Amino acid sequence: MSMRGTLTFPGDKSLSHRAAILATLARGTSTISNFLDAGDTMNTLKAMQALGAKVTALGERSFRIESPGLAGLKSPTTVIDCGNSGTGSRLIMGLIAGLDGITAVIDGDASLRKRPMRRVIGPLEKLGAKFEWLSDTDCLPVRVTGTKLPPIAFTETLGSAQVKSAVILAALASQTSLTLDEPHPSRDHTENMLRFAGIDIKKEKTAEGFRILLGPGSVVQPRDYKIWGDVSSAAFFAVGACLLPDSELLLRGILLNPYRDRYLYTLKQMGADIEILPQRDECGEKGGDVLVRSSRLRGIELPKESIPSLIDEIPVLTIAGAFAEGRFAYRNAKELRVKESDRIAIMAQNLQRVGVAAKEYDDGMELEGNPTRKMAGKIEPHMDHRIVMSFEIANLVAAELSSSKSSGQPPGTLTAPLIIEGKEWVETSFPSFYDKLKSVLANHGDSNGFHKEKTPQVITIDGPAGSGKSTVAYMLARALGYSQIDSGALYRAYTYCGYREFQRLGSPGDWASAVTENAALSAYLSELKIALRFSEDGRQHVLVEGKELTHELRSPEIAPLIKPVADARYVRERVREVLAHASTNYSLVADGRDMGTEVFTHARFKFFLTADSRTRAERRLAEFRAKSPSITLDEVQQQIEDRDRDDMSREYGGLRPAAEAIFIDTSSHTQEQVAHIMLAYIRCAAV
Ligand code: DC
Repeated sequence: MSMRGTLTFPGDKSLSHRAAILATLARGTSTISNFLDAGDTMNTLKAMQALGAKVTALGERSFRIESPGLAGLKSPTTVIDCGNSGTGSRLIMGLIAGLDGITAVIDGDASLRKRPMRRVIGPLEKLGAKFEWLSDTDCLPVRVTGTKLPPIAFTETLGSAQVKSAVILAALASQTSLTLDEPHPSRDHTENMLRFAGIDIKKEKTAEGFRILLGPGSVVQPRDYKIWGDVSSAAFFAVGACLLPDSELLLRGILLNPYRDRYLYTLKQMGADIEILPQRDECGEKGGDVLVRSSRLRGIELPKESIPSLIDEIPVLTIAGAFAEGRFAYRNAKELRVKESDRIAIMAQNLQRVGVAAKEYDDGMELEGNPTRKMAGKIEPHMDHRIVMSFEIANLVAAELSSSKSSGQPPGTLTAPLIIEGKEWVETSFPSFYDKLKSVLANHGDSNGFHKEKTPQVITIDGPAGSGKSTVAYMLARALGYSQIDSGALYRAYTYCGYREFQRLGSPGDWASAVTENAALSAYLSELKIALRFSEDGRQHVLVEGKELTHELRSPEIAPLIKPVADARYVRERVREVLAHASTNYSLVADGRDMGTEVFTHARFKFFLTADSRTRAERRLAEFRAKSPSITLDEVQQQIEDRDRDDMSREYGGLRPAAEAIFIDTSSHTQEQVAHIMLAYIRCAAV
C-alpha cells in the first residue's frame, strides 16, 4: 500500500478563525475562500453573525461577510457557543472585551469547558476588561462585558499566540494603542493578517523576542481572504507518505508559515524525502506545495527550541518516530498536557497498549523506533482528533508491515491491526480526513497516463532569462515523449531576418523605430514565412522561407536587437500563430515569457521558473564572457535585471506568471531536479 496523488486541504484553522474575525472588524464587504468548514471555525463564523455581521455562503467553503464595522456591532441574543475550539473562544473573548457596550456569554462543549481560560481572562482583566465566571472553576462559561480599554502595555509571558491575539484584538476593538512585548515569540498569524488587512502593525526585534506596536484608531479594511490549506492537517499525510513504501504525494496549497511548517524540516532531518515549493503569498502568509516520497526515517530528539512550533504535530511525529530507526524523544513540551487531551499521557498509554515501550516524562516522551515493528491493539483517543488521526496513519503502516512477504499474506488483503475508537472527533477539525485518505490509497492504476493522452497536450514553462527554462523544457519534453518549443528562438529569427532586411533597405533612422514605423520593414516581417519543424528527438527547428536557421539565432549580435521586435504587437501575433499551429499536431513543452498567459492559455500545466538575479548572472557569466572577456559578474547581473524589466514591462505579452502558475525556484536546484519536480506534479495529478 502506498500514498500517491495530489491533495489539497481545507483552509488552515488558525487563519480561518482570524479571517472571520477581521472581516467582522472591517466595515464593508470581505470574502473568504477555502474557509475551514469544520465545527470549530463555523462556530466562530456563527459568533460573528451573532455580533451583527451578515454572512452569505458563496459556494463550497467560501463566504461573503458584510459587516457594519466596529460601531455597528451588537450584543448577541444567545450564548456564543465555541464548541470544541480553544482558539475561537479565546480570540472572541479578546475581541468582545474591547467592544464598548457589548455583552456576551461564551461557552463551549464538555471538553472546552475543562480547558483553562484564566490565561486569557487574567491578562485581559488587568487591562481593564470585565469578565464574570459563570462556573466555579477557571473555565467556561463566562460572561464578558466590553469596555473602552485605555492604552495597553502588556508583556505576554506564556508564549501563547491565543493570549497575544486576544490582547491585540481587544486593542483594535477599543481603537486604543498597544505595546505588547513577547519574550517568547509565538505564532504570528494575527500580525500577518492584520498587515494584509491594512493595519500598520509594527514588530520590532528586542533583546529577548519582539515588541508589537499598534497606534490608536487603527482601522481594519475589508479584504478578499484566500486561506492556505491547513499545514497541520497535511502532517498526517506527510508522515504517511514517508512511511508507506512506493509513495509519491503532492500536498498542494498549504500554509508555510515558519511557526507552523517546522515539522516538515524535522521530517527532513529524520531523513524524509521532502521538497518544499513556495508559491505566491496569500493573506500576508507564505504558502506552497510539498512533495513527499517514501523515505527511510531515523529517530531524532526534537530540539528544545523547536518544540513550540511543533506542538500540534508532536503526536504524528511520534508515530514517525515509532517506525524510524533508533531513538525518538522530546522534552520541554508540558504544554502538550493541556491540549484537547493530555497528549503526552494519551500518546504514551496508547503506544504502550499496542506494543511500543514508550517512556513518559512529565514534559515529554522517549521510545526506541523500529521500521519493521508490529503494532496491534485498541486505541483510546480521549476525544482528541489528532490522536485519532495519528493512529490512523500508524494503522496503515502497521497493516503494511504485517502484510509484508514474511507474514505470508497475499498483497491486497491488508487487515487493520489497530482498533481506533472516537473517529467522530475528527469531524471537529478535519471532516474530509477519511475521504482524503481513501483517495490517495486508492488503486493507483497507470500513473504515467498523462503522456498517453490521445489529443496533443501542452505544458508551458515561463520565466526570466537565465532561470533555466530551455534545458528543463527539453528534459521534460523528452521524459514525456513530447516536443520542445523554445519561443525565444522565433523572436531571434524575426530579429535576425528583420535586421538583415533593415540593412539591405539602407533606410535612414534607427532600428528600434524602423520595426514599427518603416512600412517596408514591417511588411517584410509580417509576410516572412516562419515555420517550426520537430525532429524525432523532440528538438525544434526554425525554418525561414523553408531554410533552417541554426547558429545565426544564438549569435551574440542578435541579443541587443531583439527588444523592439519582441515589443512589436504584430510580430507577437505572428509568433502566436506559428506556435498555435504547431500545437495542433504535436504535444509540446513550450518555454518563453508569455506561454501560459497569452499563447497556450489552456495548457494543462503552467510552470513559472524563478531564480535570483545573482544566480542567473552566475549561470550566464561564461556566455557573456565569450562575447566580452572582461565583463564582471556585477555587470552581467545588471544586464539581466535590465532585461527582466524590459520583459516585465512589455505591454503585450510581458513576463507575468499565469494565475494558476506553479512556481519553482531553480536557485538551489539542478536542472535535472527541476525537471523531476515538474514530472512529479504531472504524475501526481494523473493518479
Ligand atoms: O529565451 P530567449 O533568451 O531566447 O529569448 C529571446 C528574447 O525574446 C528575450 O529577450 C525575450 C523575447 N521573448 C519574448 O518576448 N517572449 C517569449 N515568449 C520568448 C522570448
